[in-house]
Amino acid sequence: MSKNITVCFSASGVTKRAAQLIADTLNTELIEITPKTAYTKEDLNWRDKNSRSTLEMSDKSSRPEITNEKVDLSGVDTVFLGFPVWWYIAPTIVNTFLEANDLSGKRIVLFATSGGSDFGKTVQFLKNSVASDTVISEGRVFSGRFEDNDVVEFARQYI
Ligand SMILES: Cc1cc2nc3c(=O)[nH]c(=O)nc-3n(C[C@H](O)[C@H](O)[C@H](O)COP(=O)(O)O)c2cc1C
Repeated sequence: MSKNITVCFSASGVTKRAAQLIADTLNTELIEITPKTAYTKEDLNWRDKNSRSTLEMSDKSSRPEITNEKVDLSGVDTVFLGFPVWWYIAPTIVNTFLEANDLSGKRIVLFATSGGSDFGKTVQFLKNSVASDTVISEGRVFSGRFEDNDVVEFARQYI
């Protein structure tokens, strides 16, 4: 039997809600990528040119530190990896996670939450942070006020 895991970064809880539903549906462990310094409301203000999130996302080489760098991925085939869309891609803290762990030979299925944007160039920016034999695929973006059932239905296709 294949072993799966759900991993998410969530700054304000929305993606965590989706991640929990996916983990529950697929019966996987759920690991949250935890920033060393939590994001405050001010940090998340995308209208502020000098907010932490704006500065991080305007420097694609930024790698915000995380507390739980290494995750036990032994025997894992598929990682369901979730995050909020920030400036049309994944937050660079997701790159931090990918670079801290060896995902060689594994499959990553992305899911995200957003105000309305799709994955955009997400895969392109995450690819640089994984081995050449890691397969990244776009799962689903849950936008706006999505229903629990949308997430459960998405997850069910991987049972
Ligand atoms: C810094 C920042 C940038 C964002 N950029 C986008 C974007 O480009 N497109 C979009 O649709 N939503 C954008 N959003 C909205 C989030 O993707 C959305 O609120 C998400 O569900 C938050 O998830 P979370 O609670 O797990 O952090 C942005 C939010 C923040 C804080």
